[in-house]
Amino acid sequence: MKSPAPRSPGCGAGPCFRRWLAPATALSLLAIFCWSIAWGQSASPRAESRPAVENSLDSPAIEARVNELLAKMTLEEKIGQLVQYSAGQATGPGSGRTDDRDMIRKGQVGSLFNVTGARATNQLQHIAVDESRLHIPLIFGLDVIHGFRTTFPLNLGLAATWDPALVEKAARISATEASAAGVRWAFSPMVDIARDARWGRISEGSGEDPFLGAAMARAYVRGYQGEHLSAPDSIAACAKHYVGYGAAEAGREYNSTEISEHTLRQYYLPPFQAAAEAGVATFMSAFNALNGIPTSANPFTLKQILRKEWGFRGIVVSDWNSVAEIMAHGIAIDDATAARKAFLAGVDMDMVSNLYHQNMQQLVESGKVPESEIDEAVRRILRVKFALGLFDHPYSDEDREARAMLRPESVAVARAAATRSLVLLRNENVSGTPILPLSSKLSSIALLGPLADDAGQMLGSWGGLGRSEDAVSLRRALTERLGDARIRYAKGTGFLTGSDGEISEAVSAAEKSDVVLLALGEDAPNMTGEAASRARLGLPGRQQELLEKVVATGKPVVLILFSGRPLTLPWAFDHVPAVLAAWYPGVAAGPAVGDVLFGDAAPSGHLPLSWPRSVGQEPLYYNALNTGRPAADPDRPPQKGETKYLSRYIDEPNTPQFPFGFGLTYTSFRYGATQVTTAQLSAAALEQQLDARGDRARVVRVSADITNTGSRAGETVAQLYVRLDGTSIAMPVRMLKGFQSVALASGETRKVTFDLDALTFAFWGADNTFAVEPARVTLWIAANSAEGEPVKLTIAP
Ligand code: NOJ
Repeated sequence: MKSPAPRSPGCGAGPCFRRWLAPATALSLLAIFCWSIAWGQSASPRAESRPAVENSLDSPAIEARVNELLAKMTLEEKIGQLVQYSAGQATGPGSGRTDDRDMIRKGQVGSLFNVTGARATNQLQHIAVDESRLHIPLIFGLDVIHGFRTTFPLNLGLAATWDPALVEKAARISATEASAAGVRWAFSPMVDIARDARWGRISEGSGEDPFLGAAMARAYVRGYQGEHLSAPDSIAACAKHYVGYGAAEAGREYNSTEISEHTLRQYYLPPFQAAAEAGVATFMSAFNALNGIPTSANPFTLKQILRKEWGFRGIVVSDWNSVAEIMAHGIAIDDATAARKAFLAGVDMDMVSNLYHQNMQQLVESGKVPESEIDEAVRRILRVKFALGLFDHPYSDEDREARAMLRPESVAVARAAATRSLVLLRNENVSGTPILPLSSKLSSIALLGPLADDAGQMLGSWGGLGRSEDAVSLRRALTERLGDARIRYAKGTGFLTGSDGEISEAVSAAEKSDVVLLALGEDAPNMTGEAASRARLGLPGRQQELLEKVVATGKPVVLILFSGRPLTLPWAFDHVPAVLAAWYPGVAAGPAVGDVLFGDAAPSGHLPLSWPRSVGQEPLYYNALNTGRPAADPDRPPQKGETKYLSRYIDEPNTPQFPFGFGLTYTSFRYGATQVTTAQLSAAALEQQLDARGDRARVVRVSADITNTGSRAGETVAQLYVRLDGTSIAMPVRMLKGFQSVALASGETRKVTFDLDALTFAFWGADNTFAVEPARVTLWIAANSAEGEPVKLTIAP
């Protein structure tokens, strides 16, 4: 299966219009005309291969109801719809006031979040529906990030499955649970491209690649929003954080970003656009400044790109207090200006800062904000509320809530997702055979480390309403599998503090055992996720010392890393025979890891990012530019006598520890040479196809034979990479353009094929238009971003 390709940007009104709409600078009259005729339809000329969520944001019936209601609203009631609070913090953080009920009654609140449960949400909803003048329902939001009650692997782990269908299932379950608890809006998916492991929130996204990120974005949106937004078990999704937040300088949380328009369009925007095209109902503006303009006050990204180019008709909500933070950024020196700038830039709803509530009436009355703009924002909010069916069915069913949570079939999906999220990084021979999978006949196993028996940690830093008692630790799972007598457990050390005694106890447990399982990593709530940037990416506390002492016993060691990011562990990757990247696997952590360790399941996860050797390599990403002086051998620093003047470090290879797309399993695969059905394509013909409506036909088929060369059945993710040379702007050394899972029996060979259309070859050129250019093309079908036997073709003019 070829993953659905992202659709072409552009207004869909013909080739010239498509070119004219794209550049930031080209908001010409013609483009405005083009926009006005394209209003209400997708910005893309192509229907997706699978139908998007039924886009009720385009429904004329809903529009009529929105307009009818809007006509009855006072200015105060309109402004009320633009206001969102975290429940119990009615007038913003630190204000001390908690009169949200009174505000709801007066129609001064459009949305609340951080209140869950059918009873609690129904109570507040009754105030809005029964007691406010126009009976407009609230929309309840929540950070449903990788699960509501059933916690799935953290998002980076979900991305490591390379399995959008599974991610869609996980999001569907989250929607079913959240909606049963009255929550009809998830602040998810986070679709930020992240290239720097220092940034704690790398854990919440799908990694560094726009193509994989777009596939995952679509999967989340479809899962949350379901077939119909109005179904009682559907929830509105929220593509966040728009945009560039993941490019925080130096990986430091909330830091500013400098991203050229080309880089923004080529790498950072595609997952957001994919979400928009899948019908996402809401976007969240971010915390960061982008090229000096806070993203919560940035008309270029919010109005020009999101609304005009992509035709987005849903809600833009600010991130937490980010409207007020415009002042700290330095582009406003008072509340009213901050509110005006954010609103006029395109932020419809103010999350908790309270500045819209306090200033908007005055801003309209003084003429600084046109009421017509308020009307538009209110329309967008009401549109989503109508589309969700909130006016017709505002309440949640308490009986459904009681039945919805943590159902066995949901936990089974969580277990499948956890199993598929595990990435085997290393599996060396011990006494002639790979250490993994372990034999179930082992008579004694030392299970060590701070993450071996901590179920709560398995939920990651943002476990929704997940409870530690829902999760199964590795210790519990192994005890259930093997019995108490064969497991020797010792914590060994805490995350940051550990005593000599604890370490000695663990070492002695290792000495007495046949094999050692070491569960090390980061303290999920404190070291990963928001506000958890790290300048050092090694094992915290005394864990490295514990690792080295345990390895020194000479016992075979399997290191299971629980972390929200790749960790720089060069010593471990040289000395520990097996390393499994487990991320935080969610409720079924223990059983999933147990299945893989003992071979009931083969590892099938692949890295959604480049795994660095050292912090100094960050930001590190495979789809980088070649430079004018590429290192001849990026795998090693310069040797004596070689020229020094190449793009590399003198003390570290350029290459990552493990490349993007990498993952081992219990068998091996041989990828044959990549083949193409044609040696030449025409740029003009591809351009024509880009502008055509309807499905695009295949322009070339790319294939390769893959053979399972090992003795077990297994699965590989075949990845299609493309490089373009001779273009108007430098393009990366490789770009992922397709992937598919291939399961093969031992000895089996299969030809995998990718049917490519014009989109594969289109990109944002030097003039910031999205087009196909004449180029020399290199293609690889490979097991990861660093391998494969390439083939070339030409795109002639
Ligand atoms: C701040 C985070 O950046 C965002 O992702 C989240 O949705 C909001 N807080 C609401 O909790």
